[in-house]
Amino acid sequence: MAILSIRVYPDPVLRERAAEVTDFGVETQMFFENMIETMREADGVGLAAPQVGVSKRILVASPAGKKGTALVIVNPVLREGIGTEIAQEGCLSFPGLYADIVRFKKIRLEFQDRAGKPRETELRDFFARVVQHELDHLNAVLMIDRIEFNKRQEWAESFKKAPSRPG
Ligand code: NI
Repeated sequence: MAILSIRVYPDPVLRERAAEVTDFGVETQMFFENMIETMREADGVGLAAPQVGVSKRILVASPAGKKGTALVIVNPVLREGIGTEIAQEGCLSFPGLYADIVRFKKIRLEFQDRAGKPRETELRDFFARVVQHELDHLNAVLMIDRIEFNKRQEWAESFKKAPSRPG
């Protein structure tokens, strides 16, 4: 196994839409292991393949951190999102940056497992948040793209609370 180097913004690979995975052979299996090892080494809870310079639709997630089981998710498709929630997120490609991001609270996800077998699952709360963050990476969407939206929403909320002015 090997630790891969994590690409930091503005590395152009982070702005490429990742390609579908069709090969689940030995090299791909080794890549899954390397991604898991790299995520753990970096103390991350999730990692997307573009973050290690590979523009393919692969993400790994370990919401419980180093102690938990790491899940490999290939070619994920978000089928449904239910409810929203704002919470603070970080990203290994933006060291030191944390921001409040809106995500679905619960998601229904279709994906392929590490053997290429089609799966469907429902995820909620922090696990759902991690997967949505990594899924963004596969679509070349980065945390900074979502910050302005959040600020807009905050302003909209405070505007709603403000007392109405006559005229
Ligand atoms: Ni990230």
